[in-house]
Amino acid sequence: MKAVTYHKYGAPDVLGIEEVPAPTPGDKDVLIEMHAALVTATDAIFRAGEPLFSRLFTGPRKPKAKTLGGEFAGEVVAVGKDVTRFAVGDQVFGDTGPALGAHAEQVLVSEDGALAVMPAGLEHAQAVAVLDGVLTALPFLRDHARLREGQEILVNGAAGSVGAAAVQLAKHFGARVTGVCSTAKLERVRSLGADDVIDYTEQDFTRAGRTYDVVFDAAGKSSFPRSKRVLNSGGVYLSTAPSPGILLRSLWTRKFGDKRAVIAFTGLRPATDKAEDLRRLTELTEAGRMRPVIDRRYPLEDAAEAHRRVDSGDRQGSVLITTKHAAP
Ligand SMILES: NC(=O)c1ccc[n+]([C@@H]2O[C@H](COP(=O)([O-])OP(=O)(O)OC[C@H]3O[C@@H](n4cnc5c(N)ncnc54)[C@H](OP(=O)(O)O)[C@@H]3O)[C@@H](O)[C@H]2O)c1
Repeated sequence: MKAVTYHKYGAPDVLGIEEVPAPTPGDKDVLIEMHAALVTATDAIFRAGEPLFSRLFTGPRKPKAKTLGGEFAGEVVAVGKDVTRFAVGDQVFGDTGPALGAHAEQVLVSEDGALAVMPAGLEHAQAVAVLDGVLTALPFLRDHARLREGQEILVNGAAGSVGAAAVQLAKHFGARVTGVCSTAKLERVRSLGADDVIDYTEQDFTRAGRTYDVVFDAAGKSSFPRSKRVLNSGGVYLSTAPSPGILLRSLWTRKFGDKRAVIAFTGLRPATDKAEDLRRLTELTEAGRMRPVIDRRYPLEDAAEAHRRVDSGDRQGSVLITTKHAAP
């Protein structure tokens, strides 16, 4: 089968297409013919090997996993002899997790992995786009912030994958949402359901005179010391971006003070938790609470172009790579 591969860190040109052995399902495995997969900011970071911190996951000198990609949608084409929950012909979506490997014609996932039947009525490209950012935003808001109806939340980086999912999920939880993004993305963030928007090129949200129960820095561009002043008493600051500062402050604020700082690594959650979240996402999507927004799609062979689009920062929604099986 064809796979997008890379053997060294760098610009999108390090990506190539190779013929690699097709995976063979073990007794509990599900083999999926990939139709559409996301290219995310995390894929771009893992490709570049920067920031250097990311190499803790991908390998210090060169990438351990040769094929990137996490979230995908496709059709089950084979199952191991002990698989009971999926059958050949099922239309599924999921996440390969730390193993990566979704940017290929076929993807192998354990039946106990992050895999679920796609929401009804969506094409594969839409199903994987609706998944964009959700497996990060949902645990941050539900498990770490315990966001509830009537609370005020600010989402920094509200036009990005994680931020856009957070805006939609926060509205579903009944919160009042302020989204922070650049000028060109204000309309997109409003259309996702944000009650208020702040243009970070014009205004610093930490000086805008409003306070919040939760500040979710989905972009990882602010800091707890600066954001603390806009947190209400008992408020929570969440960050997706690891740094020594946030790691120390998350330990310190667990014991001291009435405002908490939280960093989490949602990609490392057990696959069974992610599978549960996929089923929840299917319900929310079928109820019209979450909707896919596709920026551009590229054939598998043009994966480097897809990475360039992600690197540009211009995208207004999900960037996908698709195979010949995806509906046009
Ligand atoms: N900890 C975890 O478990 C976890 C899991 C997944 C991802 N992540 C990390 O989360 C981060 C975001 O991921 P993503 O997929 O959402 O990335 P993304 O889709 O590229 O979005 C990043 C957003 O950051 C915004 N931004 C850039 N500079 C900003 C600034 N100065 N102030 C406010 N916003 C700014 C951009 O907004 P504009 O487009 O409006 O300029 C962009 O939409 C990445 O660093 C990723 O590695 C962490």
